[in-house]
Amino acid sequence: MPVMTTAIADGLRVFRRGKVRDTFELDDDTLLMVATDRLSAFDVVLPTPIPDKGRVLTQMSRWWFDKTGHISPNHLLEDDPEIIPAADRDDWLQRSMRVRRAERIDIECVVRGFISGSGWKEYRTEGTLAGEALPAGLLESGKLDHPRFTPAAKNDTGHDVNISRANLADVVGTALAQSLEQVSIDLYNFAAAHAESRGVYLADTKFEFGFIGEELTLIDEIFTPDSSRFWEISQWQEGEAATSMDKQFVRDFLETLTWDKTPPGPELPYDVVEGTRRRYLEAAHRICDLDLQ
Ligand SMILES: Nc1ncnc2c1ncn2[C@@H]1O[C@H](COP(=O)(O)OP(=O)(O)O)[C@@H](O)[C@H]1O
Ligand SMILES: [Mg+2]
Repeated sequence: MPVMTTAIADGLRVFRRGKVRDTFELDDDTLLMVATDRLSAFDVVLPTPIPDKGRVLTQMSRWWFDKTGHISPNHLLEDDPEIIPAADRDDWLQRSMRVRRAERIDIECVVRGFISGSGWKEYRTEGTLAGEALPAGLLESGKLDHPRFTPAAKNDTGHDVNISRANLADVVGTALAQSLEQVSIDLYNFAAAHAESRGVYLADTKFEFGFIGEELTLIDEIFTPDSSRFWEISQWQEGEAATSMDKQFVRDFLETLTWDKTPPGPELPYDVVEGTRRRYLEAAHRICDLDLQ
């Protein structure tokens, strides 16, 4: 059954209900993050769930956390089925992660290897990306000469706000700003190379970090279709808007409506739900060899 919201489980306190994940407090140091099947587009959670989406997000994140431990420590802990209410156990185990609670750094660490979306808009009008000059003559969806770090200040209630790297250094200090950038770029390069070997470009992605004690730690989700733009290389064409393997499909549908992109969002028709579900499953299969059908 698709899950729109998780009930407050017996004995588990809600830590935070985000747009997609419901997170519970297991103890002072440990959280249980449960990915629902909610889909948010243009920062609005839509009323229609996408079956299997929560499982895809969780299983892909787990796969990547496992592969990237040599680049950055992360928050993932071993499962402990006993802490999950028995009635929900089978379903929750597939969509949840037990994680170490971190002191979150309120920055979205965005890395772009290609120019599209808001980055393309900025470049087309200003010739810059995150305020920094780019070579002239780039085309839409074009590959950048090297991946760029374009951080944003996290806003839990509205849209995130792009900030410059200089700005980031002012907010978190030079040393931490440098660490965030270096680790983010290293993670991006690692995943982009893997995705490319599967016929997929990782156009851009975002990370969140926090401190667990003194240790800078990767948290939240990584390299999922929700946090990343994945492009089918066989369909990529420089100079044309590229279509992500997953959410772009929903966005394209929403653009055909007169909806003004403020809540409440519209219901999705069956074929859009099914098409979106298939795309999430396909991403997990193509990129991580996960068979989640
Ligand atoms: N290890 C962690 N410690 C503390 N907070 C975390 C950790 N991992 C993720 N989070 C936070 O939990 C929330 C996950 O839910 P999500 O639905 O992604 O929220 P959002 O609407 O902010 O994207 C996010 O606010 C994220 O910053
Ligand atoms: Mg999130």
